[in-house]
Amino acid sequence: MQINKSVAVITGAASGLGEAAARSLAALGAKVILADMNLEKLQLITDELVAAEYSAVYKVTDVTDDNSVAALMDLAIQEYGAINIVVASAGIIRDSYLVTPDRETGKVKKFMSTEQFRQVVDVNLTGVFITLREAAIKMVNHQCKGVLIPISSINKIGELGQLNYASTKAAIALWPKILAGEFHARNIKHIRVAAIAPGYVATPMLTSINPEILQKIVADIPLDRLVNPEEIIQTIRFIVENEAVHGTTLEVSGGIIGKGLAK
Ligand SMILES: NC(=O)c1ccc[n+]([C@@H]2O[C@H](COP(=O)([O-])OP(=O)(O)OC[C@H]3O[C@@H](n4cnc5c(N)ncnc54)[C@H](O)[C@@H]3O)[C@@H](O)[C@H]2O)c1
Repeated sequence: MQINKSVAVITGAASGLGEAAARSLAALGAKVILADMNLEKLQLITDELVAAEYSAVYKVTDVTDDNSVAALMDLAIQEYGAINIVVASAGIIRDSYLVTPDRETGKVKKFMSTEQFRQVVDVNLTGVFITLREAAIKMVNHQCKGVLIPISSINKIGELGQLNYASTKAAIALWPKILAGEFHARNIKHIRVAAIAPGYVATPMLTSINPEILQKIVADIPLDRLVNPEEIIQTIRFIVENEAVHGTTLEVSGGIIGKGLAK
């Protein structure tokens, strides 16, 4: 599939990986629809892309809301007539250990709240589900050839302090296989699914954490550095351009095995 003939919808496009994906896909000639909750940043990035004479529009979108995501996909069809690439990058972290006892008293002083758990599930799991479903509905109804690219994480296994986050990312890592099978069973031949499980990437989500913890993380990466957003973008290009990539989750991590952020 050629990127310069594609329409790309990107959630989480106001920051980090989503922003990098939107900028790169636009520069490669795709028509891009940027979706996020952050209106100010959406406007700023889209204005820059349009000033560079790329095709870009934005829509304030809450991925946890059915109507909001349906309106986003409607816009893609109205504005550009198709949906070919969907990067589901919107995501949050709300880290905490399940329980943390006080050093002196031995009694629990902190725990992961139900709200912390639910918020992450809502955005990272339900939000990606809604995004893929609404995109797939439009892509089937309008016969758009394309690929769904949900963003999982290397922190899908063994992550400490991320019971909530890891649960969502582990689930998403399994979806490409299930969906490839479902599409095959329903004779939907024009939609592929491939997830990306990044390692620690230098984006605001990560650089906002405690520098000491960040240092420890880097020390555990066999590559000896964080992954660059550009290396995730190269993976998106690889997925889009290589039609045999379907039903899989690609790890791009510099070799790390997760150990946990929250202390
Ligand atoms: N940065 C990393 O090291 C890393 C590693 C592995 C996986 N990931 C995953 O990659 C994705 C992007 O991460 P990032 O580092 O770019 O994060 P980021 O915080 O820089 O960007 C996430 C974006 O999602 C948006 N968002 C949050 N809730 C939303 C909602 N309900 N509706 C719409 N938009 C919403 C935020 O406004 C923000 O712009 C996430 O799914 C994250 O879990 C990141």
